[in-house]
Parts: sequence; structure tokens; C-alpha cells
Amino acid sequence: MRINYLELRNYRRFKQLKLQFPDGIVGVLGLNGVGKTTLIEGVAWALFGNVEEVVRTSRESVRRAGAGTNENCVAILEFQLGDSEFRIEREMGGKSLSMKAELRSKGKVLATGDKDVRRAVEKLIGMDHKSFFTSVFARQKELNALQNVAPGERKKVVLRMLRIDAVDDVLTEIRADRKDTLARVAGAEKTLLTEDGRDKEKVLEEKLPELIQIADSASKELEAAERNEKDAISKVQAAQMHRDELSKDVDAFNAAASDLKAKKGSVIDLQRRVKTLEAKLAEARKRLEQLPKLEKDELRWKEISERKELLDKEKVKFERIRMIASEIAAEEREQARRSDELAKSRTGLVSVGELAAKISETERSSDECQATRSQMSSELGALRNKVAERKESMDKDRKKLDEIMAAGKEGTCPTCERTLHDAYELLIQKLRDGTAEGEKAIAEHESRAAALDAELKALGKKEEALRKRRQTLDQQLIKSKQLETSIEAMETELSRLRDKTAGRKAEREGLGQSTFSEDEHQGVLKEHASLKRAHDEFLELRSLKAQADGYHKETDDLRESVRRGQAEEEQYEAIVKSLEPKKALYDSTIKDLDLKMDQLSKAKDTVRRFSSARERAQGELDRSRKELVEIARVKKTIEEDRKRADEFSLLEDVVSSFKDHLIARVAPTLSELTSRGLEAMTEGKYTKVELDEDYEMRIDDQGQLYPINRFSGGEADLANLSLRLAISRIIADRTGAAPMNLLILDEIFGSQDPNRKRSVMSALSRLSSQFRQIFLITHIEDVKDSMNYVIKVEEQEDGTSRAELMA
Ligand SMILES: Nc1ncnc2c1ncn2[C@@H]1O[C@H](COP(=O)(O)OP(=O)(O)OP(=O)(O)O)[C@@H](O)[C@H]1O
Ligand SMILES: [Mg+2]
Repeated sequence: MRINYLELRNYRRFKQLKLQFPDGIVGVLGLNGVGKTTLIEGVAWALFGNVEEVVRTSRESVRRAGAGTNENCVAILEFQLGDSEFRIEREMGGKSLSMKAELRSKGKVLATGDKDVRRAVEKLIGMDHKSFFTSVFARQKELNALQNVAPGERKKVVLRMLRIDAVDDVLTEIRADRKDTLARVAGAEKTLLTEDGRDKEKVLEEKLPELIQIADSASKELEAAERNEKDAISKVQAAQMHRDELSKDVDAFNAAASDLKAKKGSVIDLQRRVKTLEAKLAEARKRLEQLPKLEKDELRWKEISERKELLDKEKVKFERIRMIASEIAAEEREQARRSDELAKSRTGLVSVGELAAKISETERSSDECQATRSQMSSELGALRNKVAERKESMDKDRKKLDEIMAAGKEGTCPTCERTLHDAYELLIQKLRDGTAEGEKAIAEHESRAAALDAELKALGKKEEALRKRRQTLDQQLIKSKQLETSIEAMETELSRLRDKTAGRKAEREGLGQSTFSEDEHQGVLKEHASLKRAHDEFLELRSLKAQADGYHKETDDLRESVRRGQAEEEQYEAIVKSLEPKKALYDSTIKDLDLKMDQLSKAKDTVRRFSSARERAQGELDRSRKELVEIARVKKTIEEDRKRADEFSLLEDVVSSFKDHLIARVAPTLSELTSRGLEAMTEGKYTKVELDEDYEMRIDDQGQLYPINRFSGGEADLANLSLRLAISRIIADRTGAAPMNLLILDEIFGSQDPNRKRSVMSALSRLSSQFRQIFLITHIEDVKDSMNYVIKVEEQEDGTSRAELMA
């Protein structure tokens, strides 16, 4: 086997590693704890996965601490076996740290999945992981274990390395199996005994005839009881038939009897009612004796009632007349008051027509004033315009005059531009006259304007007075109109009152005169009241008399019903009597049937009892038989188990002697291989090593054997290394696999001095002809010169490690 290439991701200290491996002695160097062992364990993890030797603690610890949940732990290994190359990819991740794996060769997938890949690898290299670790991978401290153990312990260590202890495991298993089998036999034997320690089979066989006999007699008893039950059933059926035959007559009997009972009841009831009516009649007769006397009083009651009715009416009329009279008087007083009021209103009324005439006169005067005023205003406006015009033309003339006077006679005329000369004086005079005339005209206009102004003011005052008068007249007009309406309403109301009073007077006239006397009315009322009780009693007795007639008729009817009822009673009695013998027969049949039913239920009970007794007996018999069968089966098993236990004893002897044989056989080979190794490592100085029963080494020095303590520490180390390598060889040979050509030695130097280290190193280089690759893991720097290659392992700043193949 040759390791070509290893890639690790998130594997323990390594976040990312890619490494090519050369041939020869390859040192894996670095300080303590940087990950040298880890690196080489990565190879084993790729090959076998999470096996005990690699995992150290738990599978969680394999993934890099601090890796994210989605950073999976990955190993990729490429290796060579013979001429073939292989590649394994292994990945562990997810929450449950599930393992994926794949083994390929020449682009073909040979196996997938954790277990299948491990099995395929084991088949390829011809050994399981345990053998791999003993033969190829000499682990840290293993040499120490060989060197520093107490005598006796050494034998155990060597046997464990040689995996002969596996035979012990087989032996332990055989012994445990034998023990289990014997325990089973003892347990089974116990079940063959009764509680008081007797032979269960014998006891059961003795009891069997008795049980059979009990079951038989229970069967016979049951048969008799069943016969008895059948008999009881047919008897019950016969009685039921008899009962059914009689039941029609009995139904007729029962119907007649119940009719008779009902009839008797109704006759008694009728008779009771006759008695009640007779009593009532007697009482009525007694009371009716009073009737003649009451009839006399009744005549007087009628007379006085009629008179009373007459007087009651008269009283109503009398009171009505009195009331109308007082109402008329009140109404007439009211009418007088209202007439007064009306007269007063009329005197205060001013004629509406008169007021309207005054208003239109005022309006006319107002209009005249307004017309005069507007005429005067326009005249005043015209005057003012004329004054203004005149003033403007006078201003122009004055200006001209000033210009001409300033220009003098020789100047030019401002209007026609000619030289003035003679026109000068003329022009000046003309302009002066014009101005004087203008001033006169203005004065005249202004005095006229002042006169007009005064007249306009006087007109304004007059207009104001007219407006006020008009207002007063308007108000008076409204008031007069209102008064007129209210007078109209008063007149209507007064005439309505007068009509009303006239109506009353007509009513009064219609009523005529009243002759009503209060005293007479009182006397009549008194007598009427005193006769009231006699009248009421008379009425009561009169209706009682009518009732008594009814009672007579009802009593006669009831008596007839009683007679008829009694006749029917006799008929029913005759029917009942004729059916009485059948009824008696029926009653006795029912009694008989009850008796038979009772007997049947007892017979059934008996059947049930015997049936369960038979079941019990049969059950016990069946159980006993089954138990006997079971006992036979247990006896057979016991016999078989005893035989098996004997076989286990034999096997134990065989395996145990096989182990002795193995040990005896391996010892010479181991001595021989160790001798050859030591010979090679010491360049022929020591050629013979012997191993005693406890695998203690004795080394031949010039024909004489000496215990190992006699030699130097370094020589002892070499001897132990030879022994360890011999063990590797034996294991590799035993597996029958192709030679591995690979050796991994993890920290084999222990506490050796530089000389000893050198001697181990030179011994190893002599071995290198036998192995294609030897990996030597060590933290000791000074041996690196004797190595063909060095892989340097270092810690990086972020705490993870890196590894590099040095040139
Ligand atoms: N899952 C992990 N993640 C990170 N570091 C880990 C993990 N598992 C183990 N380690 C650490 O890795 C370090 C390297 O261990 P390893 O045995 O490879 O060291 P070594 O180089 O062989 O040291 P020595 O020379 O002492 O044998 C140890 O300190 C260990 O605590
Ligand atoms: Mg280590």
C-alpha cells in the first residue's frame, strides 16, 4: 500500500489540508499538539471511518471545534495497491453527523455508504481496522508499553498485539454459553416438580383415572337432568294449551262481570240523584206557602212604582225649567254689556273716505313743490355756467391786454401778427370795455342765483312738513281700518248671542208649566223603598215555583232510568252465573301452569348446575393431559441442553489447547523475526534473540544469552522496536494480504539520547528496503537529517494547523 494524496477539511485541527506523499522515510515533524498524529489518523479515518482507534472520544470530536454547522468534516484519500489506484471520499455532517462515503477506482464506484466502504476497504487491504493498527500503525506509547511493563504483564501486551487474546474472547463466550445452558437445565428441572417436591408427572398420571371417572359421571347426570327438563317443557306446553282453550269463555265472563259492576254503580248513582231531587222539592213546597201574602204586596208595589216613575220625570222637567231661566238672565246681562262696548267703539271711528281725501291732497302739494324745485335747480345750474364762461373769456382778454401793453405800439398783434400802430389804442380800449361789461353781467347773475337759493331752501322745508303730515294720515288710516273690522266682529257675536237666547226662550215655552211637588215625591220614594224587599222575595218565589215543576219531571224520568237499569243488571247477572264454572276451571288451570313452570325452571337450574360441573371436570382433565404433554417436551429439552453443555465443555478444551498451540507456534517465529530485525538494526552485532514463556527477551552476546537489562538503553530500545516490527510482520502475514509496504511509527523515540536516536534512525534506514513508505511522526527536530522527506506541521495564527511537504 502506498499513500499518494490526502485532503482534509474541518478534520480536528485542520480547516483545510492538501498533501502529496513521497516514498521513503517521511518525517512528520512539529511541536507538541500541532496535529501530527491527527494528520496520519486522518488516513485511517478515510479508510475506516469512525472506528474506536480514530475517534478517541466521540464522533463529535472529529469535526473541527469552531466549524460552522454547514462546514462538514471531509477526508479524501488516494492510495495505491499493487498496480491499482483508489480514491476514497468521506464526509460527515448535518445535525446528526451522518456519514457519507464513496470508494472509486479508475472512475468506477466500487462502494458507497459508511459501512459498505469500510467493508470494501477491509477486503482490498486484507485486514480489518484492528489488524491495520497493529501491523501498520505503531501508535504513540506502544513501545513504551513494551519496555516498561512488569513481568507477566508483558505477555498480555504481546498477546494482545498478536491478537491471540481474541481466542480468550471465544473461550469466554463458550464458557458463558455453557453456564447459560446449565442454568436453563436447572430451571427446567424445577418445573418438573410439584410444590412439595414430588414428581409432577407421576402425580398427574396417578390422578388421571379418577378425573376421567368424575367427568363420565358428570356427563351421565347431565343427560338425566336434560331428559327431566324435556319432560317439564312438554307438561308446561300442555297446560298452556288448556289455558288457551278456556281463555275465550273467561274473556266473556270478565266482560259480563265488569258490565254488571258498572251497571250497578250507575243505578246507585241514579237513585242518589232521585233522593236529592225529592229533598229539594220538599223544601220548595214549604217556601211557596208564603206566596199568597206576597202577591198582595206585589200589587201595591206596581202602583207605587208607576207613580214614582211619573214623579221622577216631572222632577227632571222642573229642574230643567229652573236652569233655563237662570241661563237666560245671565245671557241677557252679557248682551247689554257688549252693546255698550259697541256703541263706544262706533263714536271713536273716523271715516276712512275722509282720511283718503286728505292723503291725496297732501300728495298733490308735494308733487307741485318737487316740480318747482327742479325747475329752479336747473335755472341755478345754467346761471353758474354762464358766470364761469364769462370769467374765462375775461381772463383771456386781460392776458391779451397785458401782452399788447407790453409790446407797445410797434409790437405785433398777438392774434393776427401784424404791426399794431394805430390799432394799439383801439384795441386797449376795446379790451377794457369788454372787461367792465363782463363784471357787470357777473354781478347780475350772482344776485339772481342768491334769490333762487333762498327760494329752494323754503321749498325744502315745506316738502318736509308735507311728508310728516302724510305719515300721520297713513297711521290714522290703518287704525280706522282695524277698528272697523273689530266692530264688525262685535256685531256678529252680539247677534249670535241674541239668537242663542231666543232658542232658549223657545225651549222654555215648549216645556209649559210644572206641577211638581217635592213633598209628594219624597213620600213616594220612601214607600217604594219599603216595598222593595217583599218585591224581591216575590220574584224569587215565582222562579222557585217554575223550578219545582222542572224537578217533578226530572224525578219521574230518573225513576224510569232506575227501573231500566235494574232490568239490565239482572241480564248481566244471568250471564255471569252461567260462565262461573268455566272461570273456576280456568283459575285452577293457571295455578297448575304456575306449578309446572316452577318445576321447569328448577329442571333448567339442575341442567345448568350439572353442565358446569361437567365442564369443570372436563377442563381439569384437559389441563392435566396438556401438562403431561408439556412435561414430556421439557424433559426432551433438558436432555438436549445437557448434551449441548457437554459439547461446550469439549469445545472449551479444544479452543484452550488451540490457544496454547498458537502461543507455542508463534513464539519461535517471533524470536526469529525479532532476531533478524535486531541483526539488521545493529549491523550484525546481535544476531539472536530468544523469548521465554513470558515473552521476556534474552539476547545472545558472543554465544551467551543475557536478559535485556544487561544491555544499554538504546540497545534495549532497538530490541523492543525489533519485537514491535516482528509483531507487525506476523499480523500482516497472518491476514494473507498483499505485503503492505507501509509502516507508520508514532513517537517511537521516547526519552532517548541523541546517540540512541541516531542508532534507531540508521536502523530504520536499513529497514527502508523492506518498506516503500515509512512515516515517522516525531516532535524531535534533530533527527530530520536522516529522513528522505519532511512534512512540517505548524499552528497558524487563527489556531488551526497547516502541513507542508518540505523540499
Ligand atoms: N475536533 C478538534 N478540533 C480542534 N482541535 C482538536 C480537535 N480534536 C482534537 N484537537 C486538538 O488537536 C491537537 C492536536 O492533537 P495531536 O494528537 O494530533 O497532536 P500531535 O501533533 O500529535 O502532538 P504530540 O506531539 O503531543 O503527540 C490537540 O491539542 C487536540 O486537543
Ligand atoms: Mg502525537
